[in-house]
Amino acid sequence: MKFYKKPIFTGFSPNLTLSDTFTACGFLFLPWKWATLRMGGAQKKVEVWLEKYFESKHAYNYDSGRTALNHALKACEIKEDDEILVQSYTCMVVSNAITWTGAKPIYVDIKNDFNMDSDDLEKKITDKSKVLIIQHTFGKPADLKSLIAIAKKHNLKIIEDCAHSFGAKQDGKLLGTFGDIGMFSFGSDKILSCVRGGGLITNDDEISKKLQEFQSRLPLARKLKVIQHLFHYIAFAKGKPLYNLGVGKWILGTSKKLNLMNRVIYNPEKHGKQVIFYPSLLPNSLATILLKQFKTFDSINKHRQEVAKLYDQQITNSKIIKPDWSDESVWLRYTLLVENPTKLHVIAKKQGIILGNWYNQAIAPRDVELGKSGYKVGSCPNADKLSNQSINLPTNRHITKRDAEKIIAIINRYGN
Ligand SMILES: Cc1ncc(COP(=O)(O)O)c(C=O)c1O
Repeated sequence: MKFYKKPIFTGFSPNLTLSDTFTACGFLFLPWKWATLRMGGAQKKVEVWLEKYFESKHAYNYDSGRTALNHALKACEIKEDDEILVQSYTCMVVSNAITWTGAKPIYVDIKNDFNMDSDDLEKKITDKSKVLIIQHTFGKPADLKSLIAIAKKHNLKIIEDCAHSFGAKQDGKLLGTFGDIGMFSFGSDKILSCVRGGGLITNDDEISKKLQEFQSRLPLARKLKVIQHLFHYIAFAKGKPLYNLGVGKWILGTSKKLNLMNRVIYNPEKHGKQVIFYPSLLPNSLATILLKQFKTFDSINKHRQEVAKLYDQQITNSKIIKPDWSDESVWLRYTLLVENPTKLHVIAKKQGIILGNWYNQAIAPRDVELGKSGYKVGSCPNADKLSNQSINLPTNRHITKRDAEKIIAIINRYGN
């Protein structure tokens, strides 16, 4: 029996590098850097980089994707009781970004590719519909042609939720540039990450003016929060390699318990409430890390596509449903459908592999107060069904061909 099994993660800050950790340590431990923890030139550089990369007239950054989405909606001048069309099979923080504006989320069902079903969208539009949020789930472009045509017919503003799809294209055009506003998340499990951050792009001068005004009213992130974000790098850099020995699990668990690290979603958010320390501006220290990630993410997206291709070619188990292959997806996660995801999670964990559970409920995670999201179970039957069967395989930069083959072998044995 092997004493040490290399841990393989799907989530757990998959983009984290030694270089990011050094940068974080610099901000934490070098006194002359403390003045630039929250303020400095990096935030502006991130915005300029986004404008250049997307050939967009305006870009703004924030403490998170959820804040970005909330500001995008407010910039569309929605009023209380307006209806925002959004797909089910999403995260509670997306619902919150809508409900915090006073508007009402109207959930649209998904197709088997985890993206919005345009037939169901048509059925859910009313006189109160104002904005359509198009989510490109797991990095695969949604059916933009149909969805945009419907939005235009009904005079809806379009926000593209590119939280999973930074760098993905449809017909050679970057996602995020099809609608009125493109929204991005730089959270710890995303294509690009600085633990917590978000961005918006737009070519609309009127929308931009409002975004600028809202952003100018945001406070700086609290110092303690920034320190917690930076400590995340140390805890994960130490905890991940030792995870399968138990020590790593202890490091991560204890850091969380002692509040040394931030959480992806706070308890009040699970109940539809805002937390007092957000929203805020993107801290300079995190923006510095993000700027470094901009340099490498294109090659990492290629790596993700190569790993996904291996899964596509070598998973042959007839008890498993694979996603349809798409060259246009950046495959943030490769999501399978299985009858009993819990069983597969347990089998993989015994081999030191932590698979992902996005999304395990139509509005995830499972411990949210669903009533506060406005979602009624049964209103989007395909999202209910697929969320009960979903399990994600990792595609991140740390997954080698050997790791992928190990995962494939487990998947192919499942149920046989
Ligand atoms: C589809 C989607 N949109 C938006 C967000 C919000 O991003 P953030 O976590 O940066 O607030 C998430 C969060 O995971 C998400 O999954």
